[in-house]
Amino acid sequence: MKGNIVVGQSGGPTAVINSSVAGVYSAAKKLGVKKVYGMIHGIEGFLEDKLCDLDEYIRGETDVELLKRTPSAFLGSCRFKMPKIEGNEEVYEKVFEIMEKHDIECLFYCGGNDSMDTVKMLSDYAAAHNKPQRFMGVPKTIDNDLPVTDHCPGYGSAAKYIATSIKEIIRDNESFGANRPTVCIVEIMGRNAGWLTAAAALAKGEDCHGVDAIYLPEKVFDIDAFIEKVRYLGSTKHSVVLAVSEGVKIADGRYVCELANENVLVDAFGHKQMSGTAAYLADKVAAETGLKARAVEFSTLQRAATHLASLTDINEAFQVGYDAVRAADAGKTGMMITLDRHGDDPYQCGTSAYDIHAIANVERTVPEEWITEDGCGLNENFERYARPLIMGELSPVMVNGLPGHLVRK
Ligand code: F6P
Repeated sequence: MKGNIVVGQSGGPTAVINSSVAGVYSAAKKLGVKKVYGMIHGIEGFLEDKLCDLDEYIRGETDVELLKRTPSAFLGSCRFKMPKIEGNEEVYEKVFEIMEKHDIECLFYCGGNDSMDTVKMLSDYAAAHNKPQRFMGVPKTIDNDLPVTDHCPGYGSAAKYIATSIKEIIRDNESFGANRPTVCIVEIMGRNAGWLTAAAALAKGEDCHGVDAIYLPEKVFDIDAFIEKVRYLGSTKHSVVLAVSEGVKIADGRYVCELANENVLVDAFGHKQMSGTAAYLADKVAAETGLKARAVEFSTLQRAATHLASLTDINEAFQVGYDAVRAADAGKTGMMITLDRHGDDPYQCGTSAYDIHAIANVERTVPEEWITEDGCGLNENFERYARPLIMGELSPVMVNGLPGHLVRK
C-alpha cells in the first residue's frame, strides 16, 4: 500500500473493539504503511476532518497490548447514518476530499449492521464515480446479529460477562433460602436478536443449575403467561432467576419497555433506546404475586467488561482488523471480513472477505431450531455454538489495584 489508511469505530462499543483497531494498526505497520489515522467519533468526526495519528498514542508493543485491554471505543464512536446518495453528493464528496487531503488510500470501519451500511454507501459511491479509494468493514457487535459471519467480535466477551454474572446472581439469590423467596429478572441487551440473552444459558454447569427461563425477542412475549410462570416457580422454589431480552415485544408489536415509558428516544437509524424492561416486569411480579422481585439491568457493563473478556474474542477481534488490512492491500474493497468456523471440537475459525451488500442492514436472529419447544430456553445446539466463543482469559494490566487502560488525551 502506497498511501495512508484511516480506521474508525461506530455504534455501541464492545469489550474488544479496540483489539480490532490494534489489529488494523499492527497489520499496517507490518506492511510499511506510513500513517495510520484514527477517526475521532467515526464518520461523523471524519466529515469534520477530526483525525488523529495513531503513532501519537501507540508507541510500541506494550501500548498495543494495553489497547487490546481497553474497553469502549478508544477513538470515540458515533451513530451517524450516511444520507442517501441522490441529492447529498456533497456529503460523499467531502469524505473523498478529506481522504485525498491526507493521502488516505483505504478506510476501515469497525461496527455492526448500521456501520456496514456506511461501508456499502461509500464503496458504492467510489465505484460509481471511478474513485480509487477502498473501503473495508471490520465486524463488531455484542448483538451478534451480522449475517454471513459465524459470529461477531464483541459477542463472546459480552456472553462471558453475562454467563458469569448470572452465575453470581443465582448464588446470591439462593442465599436466604425458603425464608425469603426472591425473583430476580435480568435484562440483557441485543435489540431484536436474542444471541446475548441466550448466553444466560451458559451459566448452567456442574456448580450451577442455571436460570429458570430465558425470554428472547425472537418469540412474542405474553405478559400474563410470564406472570403465571413466575407465580408457579415462586410456589415451588425459593430462588427464581429469569433472563429477559431488552427487545421482547408483546403481540401488538410494542416493546415491553415502551409499556413503562412511551417516550423512548430513537436514534438516527430509527432504533428505539431500550431500557426498563426488567424493572417494569419486576414491579408487575411484585404487585400481582406478592413475591419479592428484583430487577438487574446489565446495561453498559455487559459491553464494557474488558477485565473479563474472552481471549478467543480478543484474538479474533484483532485478527479481523489485521485481515481487513491484508485484504485491502490485495486490492479488495466494499467487503467485510467474516469469521468462518471450521470446527467446534477443537474449535477452529478462519477469516475471509465477503461482499458488503449481503451484510449491511441485515439482522441475523437466533435460529428457531435452537430454541426449546416451550420458547423459554436454548437447546444443546446453542451451547455447542457459543461455548467456544467465551473461552480463555487475558489478564488485565493492573495499576493501583485496577485494570489500566490506554486513553486518548
Ligand atoms: O448495538 C449494540 C447495542 O449495545 C444494543 O445491544 C443496544 O440496544 C444498543 O447498542 C444501545 O445503544 P446506546 O448505547 O446508543 O443506547
